[in-house]
This record gives sequence, structure tokens and C-alpha cells, in this order.
Amino acid sequence: MNIVLGITGSIAAYKACTLIRQFVKAGHEVQVVITPAGKEFVTPITLSALTSKPVVSEFFAQRDGSWHSHVALGQWADAMVIAPATASSIAKMAHGVADNMLITTYLSMKAPVFVAPAMDLDMYAHPTTQANLNQLRSYGNYIVEPGTGFLASHLEGKGRMEEPDEIFRQVMDVLQPEGCSNCSQEGRLVGRRVLITAGPTHESIDPARYIGNHSTGKMGFALAEAAAAEGAEVELIAGPVALSVKHPRIRRTDVVSAEQMHEAAMRLFPSCTDGILCAAVADYRPAQCADVKIKRETQAEMTLTLVQNPDIAAALGQVKTDGQRLVGFALETAASAEALHYGEDKLRRKNLDYIVVNSLCDAGAGFGVDTNKVTIVSANGQQQSLPLADKSEVAREIIRRCL
Ligand code: PMT
Repeated sequence: MNIVLGITGSIAAYKACTLIRQFVKAGHEVQVVITPAGKEFVTPITLSALTSKPVVSEFFAQRDGSWHSHVALGQWADAMVIAPATASSIAKMAHGVADNMLITTYLSMKAPVFVAPAMDLDMYAHPTTQANLNQLRSYGNYIVEPGTGFLASHLEGKGRMEEPDEIFRQVMDVLQPEGCSNCSQEGRLVGRRVLITAGPTHESIDPARYIGNHSTGKMGFALAEAAAAEGAEVELIAGPVALSVKHPRIRRTDVVSAEQMHEAAMRLFPSCTDGILCAAVADYRPAQCADVKIKRETQAEMTLTLVQNPDIAAALGQVKTDGQRLVGFALETAASAEALHYGEDKLRRKNLDYIVVNSLCDAGAGFGVDTNKVTIVSANGQQQSLPLADKSEVAREIIRRCL
């Protein structure tokens, strides 16, 4: 395969040499495109020696004035990997600021693009950087999440570029899913697109307060990783959670409220083959959200009027076509027989193919914990109870049995 490796101005540029070695060793051709700042960290001579190709950095070759065609590179490549990607380059990519060869190449790219951010923890956490990364995700780019650890600033936190081994693995998992190191059953879900909802929703009372629930998103994120590991493209709609995705085939859309989750699910589901609705969606929201913070001193008591939120599962059940499969969850507070009865009722009402029933009566099941204990009920009445296990293991079993 032909890989364009973009290198920008970060101390992590030295790791790009190891990444090149891995691609070359695996039989791929690598063409380096480096920004002027990138050349301060790693020399073009080193890079051209490793790739056996002259490094591209300027629009024109200084020596003879010949033009370096970013369009031709965009057509040549099977993938573009930008590692390291600085906050500045990410911002330029998000907004189309084509002031160097690397960004113009990115804008001309026809192949999948992988971005491995590298920066200090505060820069990475800054809302601007996060918004720019979300923008790139919305273009279909794969973000190789940075790791947490010791940074060049001598601080510790998230922002350290992922190790070359892991970047290589994530790129190959997308480009060659059948040979993917992280895929079970040899990419059984290759060609499928799975919509997954995860986490809670928050329903605003005023700018400072909301109604929510205890969902952390762990179960839904584990399902997303498990589906992606089997080769599926995943559209993950996440409520407000403190989790990050690992697999590059997961495209994440962040939402806050049930109405936003409903809008995103209705928009994305028609292009999906399957849906798994694991989010704990608030059934009600305040009829009105106050414009300013409600003052305690102004009311001795407070009554909130709540109105029903859309039922996302039921709405998707209504538009589901014959080829699409829909899996819901049912969180119950009853013991098993009664919980299953409620679950079956939801399965029918929402026109689901399967429902995964979990009960807060079972120790180690439900919200927050790392484990779950579920029973999968199918539309034809079959029941399969799984033992208490880690949520990642439960997720793999749900994917295996329902998709
Ligand atoms: O996130 P964790 O901390 O890991 O916890 C996991 C979990 C407990 C949240 C998860 O395992 C789970 O049970 N999710 C579903 C929670 C829930 O809202 O269940 P429910 O019985 O109220 O809803 C039934 C189904 O309808 C669910 O698929 C739900 O996503 C969906 N629903 C509910 C209400 C609504 N307005 N729209 C919906 O789509």
C-alpha cells in the first residue's frame, strides 16, 4: 500500500522514524510530507534514507523549480497518516487553512486519513482542540487517541502521541481488517455499519442544573469497541461521559440531551445495517429551561413540570427496514422473571429484534460498575442468560449473539 506520512512540528516527530520502519518492513511504500516546523525536529535526510524517497515539504523544489503535486499525492495514497499532528495543524486541517504542503495534501486526499495528536495536556484538553478534533471526526478522519504519560513539558497527562506500534495497528485494522490483529472471527462484521447509543442524557433545568441518571457509558463504549474489533464501522452516539474511544473504526457523535440523541440517531440510522441502543435516555425533560440560574431565595419550594422525551428506540423501530437489525436494552429494578417480562414488553412495543435485560437487583450489574449480568431475549422468544462478567466480555457476547 501507498502511505503518505505527514509530520508536523512536535518533539514526537522522532517517533515517526519508527513508524516509517514499521510500514516499510510490512511492505508498504511511504512518502513523507513534512511541515517547515517538522524539519526542526527530524531531518529530511533521515526520513528520505528510511523511505528511499525524497521528502516533500515545499510546493516547489528549490533546485529546479519543479512543482510538487499535492493532488497527485492525494490520488497515489491508500492512506494518509499525520503523526505527530500538532494543535496548530489539527486546527488548520479542521478549517482548511492551506498554507503549507501538508495541509494542501490533506485537503486533496481521497484515501482514509489518520491523525495522531501530540501536544501538552492543557492544549489537548482545550475546548478549541477538542472541537477541531470533533470536526475532523465529522469529516470521517480517524483519530488515534493520544496516550497519558510523561510529556516533553515534564508534566504528566493526556497528549502524548500514541506509540508507533499502536498507530501502525490502528491503521492496519482499517486498511486490512481481515488481517486485523484486534479482530476476532476474522472480521465477521466487515461491511456492516452499526449505530450504538451510549451513556446518559442530561436534561437542563437552567444553565447550571440538569436532570440525569447514573449511566457512565461503559457498557455502550464496550459494545462499540467489540463491534469495531469484528470489522464493523461504528457510529457511536455518546451522551455526556468521561470515556474515550480507542478503535479507529468508531466515529463518535457527542450529544447532551435526549432530543439531540434522537436527532443524531434518526439521521445516522438509515445508513446503518444495525442499531444497539444502550443509552439510558431520560424519559422526561423539564417543560422549560430557565434562561438564568434559578435563585434559591426566590422560591421556598419548586415544582418542575416535565414533558416526555422522544422514545428513540421506538422511533427507530418504526423506520427499521427488513435488512436492519435493532437491539435494545432494558434496565429494570425487578428480580429476574419480572425483569424479563418487562423486557419482552419493551421488545414488542419498540419493534426490536433483541432486547438485553439487566437488573439493578443483580450485584455487579447495571450502572457504573465494570461488570454486567444480562439476559438476551430475541423477538422469537428465545432467552440466553450470560454469567456476570466484565462489560467488554459481555459486549463481545452480545455482538456475537445478536449481530
Ligand atoms: O452506562 P453504564 O454505566 O455502563 O450502564 C449501562 C446501562 C445500565 C445504562 C445499560 O446496560 C442499560 O441498561 N441501558 C439501557 C438503559 C435504559 O434506559 O433502559 P430502559 O429500560 O429505560 O429503556 C429501554 C430501551 O429504550 C433502551 O434501549 C433505551 O436506550 C431506549 N430508550 C429509552 C427511553 C427513550 N426515551 N428512548 C430510548 O431509546
